[in-house]
Amino acid sequence: MTSESFRKPVRKAVFPVAGQGTRFLPATKAIPKEMLPIIDRPLIQYAVDEAREAGIEEFIFVTGRGKTSIVEHFDTAYELEATMTERGKSLKPLEDSRMAPGSLLTVRQQVPLGLGHAVWCARAFVGNEPFAIFLPDELMVGAPGCMKQMVDAYDKVGGNLVSVLEVPHEEVSSYGVINPGARDGALTEVKGLVEKPKVDEAPSNLIVSGRYILQPEVMDLLATQDRGAGNEIQLTDAMAKLIGKQPFHAVTFGGRRFDCGSKVGFVEATLALALERPDMADEVRAIAKKLLG
Ligand code: G1P
Repeated sequence: MTSESFRKPVRKAVFPVAGQGTRFLPATKAIPKEMLPIIDRPLIQYAVDEAREAGIEEFIFVTGRGKTSIVEHFDTAYELEATMTERGKSLKPLEDSRMAPGSLLTVRQQVPLGLGHAVWCARAFVGNEPFAIFLPDELMVGAPGCMKQMVDAYDKVGGNLVSVLEVPHEEVSSYGVINPGARDGALTEVKGLVEKPKVDEAPSNLIVSGRYILQPEVMDLLATQDRGAGNEIQLTDAMAKLIGKQPFHAVTFGGRRFDCGSKVGFVEATLALALERPDMADEVRAIAKKLLG
């Protein structure tokens, strides 16, 4: 294959949202974790907005039991629109959360076999095109957003890209970690990838932070991928097999990342975004000061 075949535009994105959200129980007993709001938008909408900004046109949700409200969220809500119109209120919040007809696709991951398996469940919709992946737990805040920065890098180098960021060394065993090669600005060549390494075996402290642009060949690798860390089918292990066969780079995201998979990260994100919202920043700052005594 020529390098040109690794440069088709990225139009599709996969959102693995089948996880059970056990860390947020009982909040997530009856509603999906991805629907927990940061202020007034559910977590999933931040990822979708980031995708839209990056030019994504097709949104593929890999869902599971009890996740239907995620799909509802992006639908048209006629009754609400009628009510808001009647009351002379802005329709913008509803319009912002509505997907263009035919652009939202869902597929179920029927068994929790890991992230690699979740992505593979989307193979029919992905077809023979490069695609993005968003892990919505990772809230990436930047201007431009993380995926837009990645798409801009992709336009230069093509192939496969992951977003990375530095974490303290003792935290690497919770993540996918890259073995970095040559660096050119925000772009780093990826020479190796390992999922959840032991701290003393990690090739660096650059972790994969939940955003990917991958070539469709990864689906064939996932189809036969053995179980890895945590006895799950790992996306990282399949990606590692692409290194050397196709271009593979990491993009250091210029922006802020909040780990909304953890409770403290969720609170941090809520506070940080509230302090930046013109409609509430002053009040929230005053409250925070008061609380901190
Ligand atoms: C997943 C990926 C891992 C990545 C992480 C980012 O892990 O497998 O490579 O670094 O997301 O949040 P998980 O959090 O599902 O264990």
